[in-house]
This record gives sequence, C-alpha cells and structure tokens, in this order.
Amino acid sequence: MADQLSVACLGAGLIGASWAGLFTAAGHAVRLHDPDAEALAAARARVAEVHADLAAIGVLQDRRPGELTLAPTLAEAVSGADHVQENAPEKLELKRGLFAETRAHAPDAVIASSTSTFPPSQLFEGLAGADKTLVVHPMLPPHLMPIAELVPGPATAPATLDATAALIRSTGHEVIRLKRETPGFVLNRLQFALLAEAYQLVDRDICDPVELDRAVTRGLGYRWACIGPLTASHLMGAGGFAGQMRAYGPAVQTVMRQLNVTEPWSDALADTIDTPLRARTPEAAIPDARRARDTRLKALRRLLDTP
Ligand SMILES: NC(=O)c1ccc[n+]([C@@H]2O[C@H](COP(=O)([O-])OP(=O)(O)OC[C@H]3O[C@@H](n4cnc5c(N)ncnc54)[C@H](O)[C@@H]3O)[C@@H](O)[C@H]2O)c1
Repeated sequence: MADQLSVACLGAGLIGASWAGLFTAAGHAVRLHDPDAEALAAARARVAEVHADLAAIGVLQDRRPGELTLAPTLAEAVSGADHVQENAPEKLELKRGLFAETRAHAPDAVIASSTSTFPPSQLFEGLAGADKTLVVHPMLPPHLMPIAELVPGPATAPATLDATAALIRSTGHEVIRLKRETPGFVLNRLQFALLAEAYQLVDRDICDPVELDRAVTRGLGYRWACIGPLTASHLMGAGGFAGQMRAYGPAVQTVMRQLNVTEPWSDALADTIDTPLRARTPEAAIPDARRARDTRLKALRRLLDTP
C-alpha cells in the first residue's frame, strides 16, 4: 500500500464521515473536524459502521486501521496533514474561507474539495499553494462507491494529481483523472444527460417514473456495473466500435438529434415524478431505503471486486 498518510477531513456529514471511515480503514491517520459538536460526536459510530461495511465486502481487511481523532478546531485537524479533504456544505464562500484557514495552518498540504458543483478555478482562486489543490469528487456513499473523480484547476500540478490518485487507490477505489474542469465534471454530466432524457420520457407520457427506474436497474445499470457504455458498443457485434457506428449510426443519430434539452423540467413535472416515488417510498422510509441500497451495493462489490 501507499505510505500511511496524515489526512484531515473537514465536515462530518454524509460524505465526510464516510471518507474518514474509508481512509482510516486503509491505514491512514485521520483527524476529523466539524463545528457541530453533535455531528462530530456521532462520527465515531458512523466510522465504525463504515468499517463494518468494508469488512462485509472483504476489502482492506489486510490493513491495520489508522487512528481516528475528533478535532474540535480546524487548526487541530489540518496542522501537519498531508491531505485535507473538505466536505462542508455546498456554499462557495464557506468553502473558500475554510481553504484560506487551512492553508494558514498547513502550507504544504494537498487541499481537496468533495464539491459536486464548484469548479476548482472558482474554489481556489487566489489561494496560496494553488498547485496543491483540486476537486476529489466522490459518489454517495463514498466508502462503497469505488470511484472518485480528480478534477484539476488551471494551477493544479501533475504531482498533486499523482499523489492524490495514490491516496485514493490505497483505499481500493479507482480514480478518473479529468484533463481539465468542466461544469458537472464527468460523473454528473453523464448522470444529468440520462436524467434529462428520463424527465422528458415521463413528461411526454411515454413511461411512468417507476418503470423508468426499472429500465436502468434491470437494464442499463445492470450492464454498466460490469462494462462501460463505450466498450459495450465495441463488443456488440461485428467490426468493433467502428463497425457498430457504421451499422447503427444513422438510426442512433436520428434519436440523438432529438435529445436537445432546452427546458429540463417544470415544477409540474417534478410533482408528477415525485408522487409515485413518494407512494412507494414515503419520506419516513428513506433511511431504510438507503440501508437497502447499501446492502445491494455491498452485494455488488462482493460479486465484482472480490479477487
Ligand atoms: N451528498 C452527496 O450525494 C454528495 C456527493 C458528492 C459530493 N458531495 C459534496 O460533499 C460535500 C458535503 O456534502 P454532504 O452531503 O456530506 O453534506 P452534509 O450536510 O451531510 O454534511 C456537511 C457537514 O459539514 C459540517 N459543517 C458546517 N460548517 C462547517 C465548517 N465551517 N467546517 C467544517 N464542517 C462544517 C456540517 O455540520 C455537516 O456535518 C458538499 O460539497 C457536497 O456537494 C455530496
């Protein structure tokens, strides 16, 4: 494995506690900070759950877990850290303030943000040591979804991407390295493209929301858990990817030309989609539904990731 690193996690919510659990399970020492004392106190139990999840899927079991320290102040969390993973609420000025404070106490640390929406050029503009900054965007829940995308800003040094990729890979996850930033990065751009069409199919009354979900869980998602969409085309028939483009290209292009989305959704459509989903999973049942999701994710990890 990579060397044991000193990692600071800022924010102990859904994402931060999950990262803290994953990094400690991989043997790194983690200092976790959250200004909300209750959230911080609850994080130890959450990290134990993360370790139990990882034990259930048999990953990182050859490692001795790193120490978890709950840090009441940001300074205590980041001083001397090699890598700082920021997981505070999605508010630009809040995050920029945290980066400035972090840099004051950790001049040499890599500062990474888990942000889903802010490009690194905006997050880190004017920050000292911008060569050691980037976005490390996970999927929810970060300890079970085995990927993070690394998004460099204009100032990010290649060595920062290399060091961060090594840290993420030390957890058993894989990375995708973007060559430069773009709104939504890669994971959400792909997700939003699919969602935009999903909304249209419901809005045009072609398909009900629950059926639409099934098209992904029993169809595309099932295949895509094993093989990417581009490689899936390459394996589809004679002639590899180029052969498929020639055979099906005109028909595919006809449909793709209809996919331009100018009005992604309306409030009325949001209600149309919400109603059947809410009937199936009322808000009170969402915590149970999340646990059921994670149970299936663990089964999938066991199936696909066990050597
Ligand atoms: N939830 C997702 O699906 C998801 C996926 C990928 C990335 N992200 C990104 O991860 C980040 C965190 O999201 P989340 O879902 O964990 O949010 P969350 O609301 O669950 O957790 C945020 C935590 O940050 C803490 N916090 C508030 N002020 C802080 C400060 N000044 N310093 C440190 N911590 C502070 C809060 O007390 C809370 O515990 C966001 O940037 C979000 O865009 C979220």
